[in-house]
Amino acid sequence: MNAKLLKGMNDHLKLEFKASHEYRAMSAWLATHDLTGFATWMTQQSSDELLHAQKFIDHLVERDQKVELPAIAQPPSEWESAEALCRHVLENEQAVTASIEELYVMAEAAKDRPAIVLLQWFVNEQMEEEAAVRAILGRIRLGGTTGVGLLMIDQELATNSMPGMPSAAGTGGAA
Ligand SMILES: [Fe+2]
Ligand SMILES: [Fe+2]
Repeated sequence: MNAKLLKGMNDHLKLEFKASHEYRAMSAWLATHDLTGFATWMTQQSSDELLHAQKFIDHLVERDQKVELPAIAQPPSEWESAEALCRHVLENEQAVTASIEELYVMAEAAKDRPAIVLLQWFVNEQMEEEAAVRAILGRIRLGGTTGVGLLMIDQELATNSMPGMPSAAGTGGAA
């Protein structure tokens, strides 16, 4: 396997683990602020990020490549609001998307077809994840950042019934 691509994939693991760690912390914060639908959604996202990391690890192991796990920094424990938290999730996802796109360019340059196939899955996954967060932010903009509007959005997340979310269309989440 191309050395640059191998390093790129190992470096990318950090973003997936970091996202998982942060989303777990966000879930705890949301739950303690009585937003249980949001909290459930974030716990699921956190688990999905671990599956993403595992997908890269499996790929490297299958190809007899060295896996180097990253250190993960302590995530924040406070957010200004549910909206601020969701904006942070979107920024996180955009950073992951940018990293996937860089890996894709490396894989193409190396004519590494198995890596391209793996990364294609991630290209689609990132598109879905960004769309889901944008859908939530859009609902917050319409419904309001506090009070009954926010509770309604929380309920939509709790029951998986939010328009524009992949789960609402029955397409399932990550994995
Ligand atoms: Fe991910
Ligand atoms: Fe993600």
